[in-house]
Amino acid sequence: MNVIMVTGGAGFIGSNFIRYVLEKTDFKGKIVNVDKLTYAGNPENLSDIAQKYSSTRYFFEQTDICDKEKIAELFKKYNIDTVVHFAAESHVDRSILGPKDFIETNIMGTFNLLENARNYWGQRTDVRFHHISTDEVYGSLGETGYFYETTPYDPRSPYSASKASSDHLVEAYKHTYGLPVTKSNCSNNYGPYHFPEKLIPLLILNILDQKPLPVYGDGLNVRDWLYVEDHCSAIWTILTKGIVGETYNIGGENERTNIEIVNTVCEIMAEKHNKEKDFYKKLITFVKDRPGHDRRYAINCDKIKQQLGWKQSVNFEQGIRKTVEWYLANSQWVKNVQSGDYKNWINKNYEKR
Ligand code: NAD
Ligand code: TYD
Repeated sequence: MNVIMVTGGAGFIGSNFIRYVLEKTDFKGKIVNVDKLTYAGNPENLSDIAQKYSSTRYFFEQTDICDKEKIAELFKKYNIDTVVHFAAESHVDRSILGPKDFIETNIMGTFNLLENARNYWGQRTDVRFHHISTDEVYGSLGETGYFYETTPYDPRSPYSASKASSDHLVEAYKHTYGLPVTKSNCSNNYGPYHFPEKLIPLLILNILDQKPLPVYGDGLNVRDWLYVEDHCSAIWTILTKGIVGETYNIGGENERTNIEIVNTVCEIMAEKHNKEKDFYKKLITFVKDRPGHDRRYAINCDKIKQQLGWKQSVNFEQGIRKTVEWYLANSQWVKNVQSGDYKNWINKNYEKR
């Protein structure tokens, strides 16, 4: 690995990944961040990295992954030998309101990257295309059981269907053209730089503003929470130790119901503000359920743990504390995010419920 093209590097996980690779690994090469800067892309997520490494080891290209000519040009310009593909439309609720962007970016964008990689690399084997996917492609679990790498795909939302489709394309390029790919399917991430349309940052910011905390349905849907830096270390492990052609599940092994998450965030915020434990729980508001709301996700990640020696560095209690503390310490980032698209989205879609 000499030059890594990271797509979607201005988003939540991508920006954490770039920081992780440049600051916490022994990687000596360059990173090219290819991002369209949609509402979810925020250059401020990497302002420290840009300041430190711009034009030496970090390069930013504002580009749509669907743009065939521009992506071809970038492969050539930087002599890309590794792609780590995060760029996507990522929010289930938005996919329900308008699936078109999801089909374009997640399916057509992935197709375009695969085509460019195939054209530029030919039959080279010293290269890698790593595709980031989600556990949501496996569908919804009942009260027991886990998602394994071998679990059949059963996506339910336009978001997960578009991700499943992109995963199939990656597999097809492996089998048909011999493209050296790896793939990872991870559970719900949380941590610094998370855009506040997603549950955990939304809760923190709404508590700060004393706004209702919307809980969909009965609040008993279960997610498996993965601290974002642990996700980044898992991807790095796959890039450096993973077997080409393989898929790895990455999970936090921290299953929680949504209402448990809401209560925990309320309690940590109360502690930070010297209030009584249950002070913010009065903001909890049960709202209409998400259509087709998947009941439970839970990942079995024995494969990456046993075969590649990866493990999580924090449990949920440690990770959620670090996350709340990061949001409290980064009020300017929060303020800037709140003044943009976030505000319009929240006003339109949440407050009226
Ligand atoms: P995000 O929404 O925070 O960021 C997505 C980034 O992609 C943004 O910077 C955006 O500007 C960019 N982007 C969108 N469309 C683009 C396009 N056409 N061309 C170039 N750039 C474009 O998403 P995230 O939470 O960081 O997720 C990253 C990846 O991880 C996605 O592929 C997502 O499906 C996957 N994933 C996320 C989670 C999670 O909990 N966040 C869980 C499982 C899998
Ligand atoms: P989210 O963060 O949108 O991630 P995903 O849908 O990809 O799992 O939602 C996490 C869980 O929280 C999910 O079960 C939906 C629920 N949820 C709420 O109850 N209220 C909210 O305001 C949001 C955004 C999500």
